[in-house]
Amino acid sequence: MVPPKPASRQGRFAFWRYLRNFRRDILSANPERLYGAKMAEFRIPFLHTFLVNETALWRRVLTQEPLNFPKSPRMAAGLEPLLGQGVFLTNGEVWRRQRRIIDPAFEGGRLRDTFPAMLAAGRATVDRLAALGPAPVDVEPQMSHATADVIFRTLFSMPIEDATASAVFRAFRAFQGTQPLLNLAAFLPLPRWVPRLHRRATLTAARRIRALTRDLVEARRAAIAAGTAPDDLATKIMTTPDPETGRPFDDAEMVDQVAVFFLAGHETSASALGWALYLLALDPGLQDALAAEAGRELGAAPDFGAVSRLTLARDTFREALRLYPPVPMMVRQAACPATFRGRAVNAGAQVVISPWHLGRHRALWDDPDAFCPERWSTPAGRAAAREGFLPFSAGPRVCPGAGFAMIEGPLLLALMAQAFRFAPVPAQSPVPQAQLTVRAKAGIWLTIIPRAA
Ligand code: HEM
Repeated sequence: MVPPKPASRQGRFAFWRYLRNFRRDILSANPERLYGAKMAEFRIPFLHTFLVNETALWRRVLTQEPLNFPKSPRMAAGLEPLLGQGVFLTNGEVWRRQRRIIDPAFEGGRLRDTFPAMLAAGRATVDRLAALGPAPVDVEPQMSHATADVIFRTLFSMPIEDATASAVFRAFRAFQGTQPLLNLAAFLPLPRWVPRLHRRATLTAARRIRALTRDLVEARRAAIAAGTAPDDLATKIMTTPDPETGRPFDDAEMVDQVAVFFLAGHETSASALGWALYLLALDPGLQDALAAEAGRELGAAPDFGAVSRLTLARDTFREALRLYPPVPMMVRQAACPATFRGRAVNAGAQVVISPWHLGRHRALWDDPDAFCPERWSTPAGRAAAREGFLPFSAGPRVCPGAGFAMIEGPLLLALMAQAFRFAPVPAQSPVPQAQLTVRAKAGIWLTIIPRAA
C-alpha cells in the first residue's frame, strides 16, 4: 500500500519560480531523480548546495568530520528569537558544553524514570480523543497536544492542563502561526547581507514563550534550593555540573534549553504520530494486530519493560519515521574546502542531508514508497536502515531525545490502537509538506471509533 507522497517537480523551472516553489515547500520543489541520486549539486546566485545521499558522504559529514561541517547559520535565522543560544542552534565549544550537561538526562536509566509520566500523558490522550465524538477529527493538533503534555510532564512534572503549561502551548501555536515561512527553506533565504526582519507578531510570541519559560525555570531553581523539587528532567539538567568545568547551567542558559526541548521534543513527535495514525487508518488488519499486542503486553498496569515488547507498534512507528521523517532535511555548511565525488566543495557551501530522500531511496529500499512495517524484521530492511534511516540524524549531533521518542511514540500508538479504530475520511487524503516539520497541508482527518463500541 502506497501512502501519499508529494508530486515531484516536473521539467525545468526558471530560477525565480524554483525559488518561490522551494520556499513554499521543499518536498515538491525538487526533481524526482533525487530519490535515486548519490549526490546532487545546485548552483544558484549566492548559494552553492550539495545534497548528499551516498552513505559514505553523509557519514563523512555527520559522523567522521562534523567539525568541518557545522550547522548552517542560515537555519538559525527564523528560530533565534525563540531558542536564543539553545543547543539546537549553537556550534563549537558552547554546543559541546551544552551536550555534556544535557546528555546524561536522556540516558537509559533516566528514561525508565520518565515512563510513568509518559504513560499518564498517553492515557490522558485516550480520554481526550474519546470525548471528541463521532465527527471526523484533525489528529495533527490532537497529537501536538499529546506530545506537549508528555514534555511538560517529563520535564516539569506538570500536565498540559496546568495554567503555565497551557499558556506556553498556546503561545507556541501563536508563534508558529505568525511564521508561515518557518520552514526548512529558510536555508535558502535572502542573501546574508539583507537584514533579517522578524515580523513583530513572531517576536511578541517568542518573547511571551520565553517569559513563561523563565518563570518555570526560576520557580524550579527555588524548589531545588528548598529541597522540594521533583526528580524530573528539569531538576536533573539544572543540577548536573559540566564534567569539564564543574559549572551547571545558569537560569538564562536553561531558558534557552527549555525552549529547545519544547520545540524539538514536541513538534517532531507530534508530526510522526499524526502520520503513524494515518498509516494505521489505511490498514484495519494492522490496527487489530496492534490492539492485540497492546492488550497482551501492556496489561492493566504497564511497566517500562513492556515497551520493549511492543514490537509491532515500534515497527509501525519506525515505518512512519522512514516515510515521513519529521525533520526532512538537515543543513550543514562546509567550514573548509572539500571534494565530494570529484566535485569541489568551497568553504561556505551548504550541504544537505535528507532523511526524506534517504528513507525513500530506490537503491536502498525494496518498494521504497510502500508502507510495510514488516520490512523492519527482515535482514534487507535492517541493512537498508543502516544506510538510509536517519530520522534522528547521526554522529555527535544526533538527537539526544531519540531514545525518549522511541518509547513515547510506540507507547502512545499502542494505547490509542488499543482504545480506538481509526478510519480515513473519504476525499481527505493528506498531502505532506515541509513546514517546521513534515505536516499535512490541510491536516490529517480521521474518524475515531471507540473499540468498546
Ligand atoms: C520523533 C521524534 C523526534 C525526531 C524525529 C527528532 C529528530 C531530530 C533531528 C533530525 C535532530 C538533528 C537536527 C539537525 O542536526 O539539524 C534533532 C536534534 C535535537 N533533538 Fe530531536 N527528534 C525527536 C524528538 C526529540 C525529543 C523528544 C527531544 C527532547 C525531549 C529532542 C531533542 C532534541 C535536541 C535537544 C536536539 C539538538 C541536538 C544538537 O543539535 O546537538 N528530540 N532531533
